[in-house]
Amino acid sequence: MARNFSASVRRVTLALFVLQLALLPMMAIASDADPEQDFCVGDSNNPTIVNGLVCKNPAEVKANDFKFSGLATPGNTNNPLGSNVTAAFAAEFPGINTLGISMARLDFAKGGLVPPHTHPRATEIIFVVEGSLFVGFVSTNETLYATTLHKGDVFVFPRGLLHFELNVCDGTATAIAALNSQNPGTQIQAVALFNSKINEVVLEKAFGLGEKAIQHIESTVEAANPVN
Ligand SMILES: *[C@@H]1O[C@H](CO)[C@@H](O)[C@H](O)[C@H]1NC(C)=O
Ligand SMILES: *[C@@H]1O[C@H](CO)[C@@H](O)[C@H](O)[C@H]1NC(C)=O
Repeated sequence: MARNFSASVRRVTLALFVLQLALLPMMAIASDADPEQDFCVGDSNNPTIVNGLVCKNPAEVKANDFKFSGLATPGNTNNPLGSNVTAAFAAEFPGINTLGISMARLDFAKGGLVPPHTHPRATEIIFVVEGSLFVGFVSTNETLYATTLHKGDVFVFPRGLLHFELNVCDGTATAIAALNSQNPGTQIQAVALFNSKINEVVLEKAFGLGEKAIQHIESTVEAANPVN
């Protein structure tokens, strides 16, 4: 009896250990890696390629390294999509290097759209500063979760899922986004598909369209490429 009991305890312990081992890699990819120091202000002049930016000498780091004024002014929305996303990612704001966080400012002209896109490395939460936005994301089983946001509303786009924001008010709109990666990555699906020189046979088959239709989409997407 006692031997049976301790054998099952050993089995359960082993099973828990194996489960823990299996979960380890999932924990590691759940967000940006934890920093190994208080801060690592990116040294934008260092050409060494690492996962992130090389740290500036901490002795030379000043308070202003943790400040970014690039979101103070609206982006120019005078483009075919009527939108402009100003990023405060590690490349623009080296102070956030290794800290697993970033921001962006979304400006919309009347009717402006940030087209369907994904951030492979971050969940995004947006706060509507001005105007009304029709926003949504699509889950991996093609369910659409969409709603209209008004000034003061917050909405979250789960990591990696396709999402969009459309200005549905009478004037301009502005939102601020926070993302849980220093470098969320942005893939605008229309651009990724039709402005990346994918062989047209692949696109024709994927979309069930002829060569002419694909070429037409390619030319319009190129003209509307909102990537700065
Ligand atoms: C977004 O705004 C910035 C700043 O005004 C401008 O330099 C950039 O060209 C704009 N991007 C687009 C796609 O219009
Ligand atoms: C997708 O998932 C949602 C939430 O679990 C569920 O309500 C819906 O029926 C699913 N749709 C499909 C097409 O499986």
